[in-house]
Amino acid sequence: MVTMKEEELFRLRKNEIRKGLLKYTRKAFGILPKIEKPRILDIGCGSGISTLELARLSKGEIIGIDIDQSALDEFVQNIKIAGLTSRVQAVNHSLFDIDFPDRSFDIIWSEGSIYAIGFKKGLQKWKRFLKPYGFMVVHDEKGNVSKKVEQIQKCNYTLLDYFVLSQETWWSEYFAPLEQLIAEYRTILTTPQLPKGLRQAQGELDMFKRHPERNSSVCFILKNA
Ligand SMILES: C[S@@+](CC[C@H](N)C(=O)[O-])C[C@H]1O[C@@H](n2cnc3c(N)ncnc32)[C@H](O)[C@@H]1O
Repeated sequence: MVTMKEEELFRLRKNEIRKGLLKYTRKAFGILPKIEKPRILDIGCGSGISTLELARLSKGEIIGIDIDQSALDEFVQNIKIAGLTSRVQAVNHSLFDIDFPDRSFDIIWSEGSIYAIGFKKGLQKWKRFLKPYGFMVVHDEKGNVSKKVEQIQKCNYTLLDYFVLSQETWWSEYFAPLEQLIAEYRTILTTPQLPKGLRQAQGELDMFKRHPERNSSVCFILKNA
């Protein structure tokens, strides 16, 4: 049996594995020019692991939006723990109908969420929320990078830089430690039924193994031209 406490511990340990990827959030942020206290919108922020890192890096004001309320609840707890309630907000809001005034943000950030709307459509639809000469950072499935670069140009952004995370990187830095964590917890299960957190993690891992080629990713750093 996995107790509530152990399930919570599983979630925390999975978060620690996710935090290992924050070096790429820092890398992308480091490519942006310095902006004094930027307003940032993190689209599809999940439980806010990168959002909180951005708050620490930027000293700015950040709104994270997502439709997964349980992830947002966890995010809210972590905002409090980090003492960042004055600068960071978690909002239940869909990325399909973002409702902020035009030109509200210096930076739009999207890690792993633009797939939901589609790369080109996301670039087009979200542009109006950026201030003129604002920036967008989009981390997405690698797919066809040249095609994505073309779409970036067509949507009137300037590509400042990009970097790729290979499937080997995803395996060694995220999925292999996750597999190890799941295996450890499976040894203490007494029923075949997996608790929710483990089931989701197993689903992520299975998906990676079925389509490892889909699990290289690319992070674009763009300027609103
Ligand atoms: C791969 S996760 C990435 C989470 C977070 N950005 C990170 O890097 O840890 C994708 C996120 O997009 C969110 N998402 C999917 N569809 C969405 C929608 N229609 N509106 C807002 N968020 C959405 C999911 O709930 C999920 O939290």
